[in-house]
Amino acid sequence: MAKSELYGKDLICTQDWSLEELEQVLKLARQMKASRFSDQYTSLLRHRTFLMFFYNPSVRTRQSFEAAATELGGHAQFLEPGGMRLRTKSSAGETIEDAARVMSRYACGMGIRILEGKIEAYGDGDELIRQYAEQASIPVINMADDKFHPCQGLADVMGMREAFDTDSLKGKKLLQIWGHGALARAWCSVQESLLINSRLGMDITVAYPRGYDLDPQVMDQVRANCTAAGSTFEILNDSRAGYEGADVVYSRNWMSPVAYQGGLNRQEEIEKAMQYRDWICDESRMDLTNDALFIHPMPVDRGHEVSDGVASGPRSIIYDVAENRLHVQKAVMAQTMGE
Ligand code: CP
Repeated sequence: MAKSELYGKDLICTQDWSLEELEQVLKLARQMKASRFSDQYTSLLRHRTFLMFFYNPSVRTRQSFEAAATELGGHAQFLEPGGMRLRTKSSAGETIEDAARVMSRYACGMGIRILEGKIEAYGDGDELIRQYAEQASIPVINMADDKFHPCQGLADVMGMREAFDTDSLKGKKLLQIWGHGALARAWCSVQESLLINSRLGMDITVAYPRGYDLDPQVMDQVRANCTAAGSTFEILNDSRAGYEGADVVYSRNWMSPVAYQGGLNRQEEIEKAMQYRDWICDESRMDLTNDALFIHPMPVDRGHEVSDGVASGPRSIIYDVAENRLHVQKAVMAQTMGE
């Protein structure tokens, strides 16, 4: 494989890449899934190290990136900030500039996850990753921050295209709906889904109880994406209405915009969210749809965000999407880091 024109590129949000670049990754991911251990892919990162820098825990992201590095012939190294001496707002230590420049001397690429609980204000996590990207001379991949989750967005698209057996999601209705829950989720997966799927021409309905608005700048971008793609965009504050005619239902909890005011109080957010028991994706609501797929980035909060019957039902593609994390990340790593 020749060096890709994506070589050296950071991936912090899919909105930062052109549609052609995203399609290049999705195409390679499909090929890699079809021929997973083919010799043409197993040496693309031979002898190379990918650094995985986790401020927050993970199941899928850590395991799929680690497996991706292995399957490309390289190695993934797990790092936690607790094991380093980094400067923070409240403690002395090594600067991002120094850490990023040194890490660039060892590795072919770096992934960073920083979410709620590890930041003081919304946007801090995304800002930290962008600072690393600015200073590093190797590609930096966002492994989920407080705003965006690009690899999840790509895996979602791949899963929907496979399930519908088409390369075009144009004209399909996506219902992105809030679910009550006991986990208090960041906005990253939901906002990434809205950004990428609006660019791909899906008709977008976002539904949530009053008081759960997402980032207004991101929503403006989603609206603009829909206009550019010739698709529709609407916001509802109803737990049922959006299901009518939906082709895909993505039910997920997210925190309210006041979550970070005066320091994140997750317990308060959870107690508030748990009062909205009507906000659950269940069989009766799915019956209103156009035999919709159910999609979710996982971990699923069963019995709150979605019923067991829907999450494990015949239209659920949650495990396919989780698997696709591996394939899209292999494609991103091969194209941005493989020589
Ligand atoms: N979807 C996702 O990023 O899962 P993890 O938090 O387990 O990595």
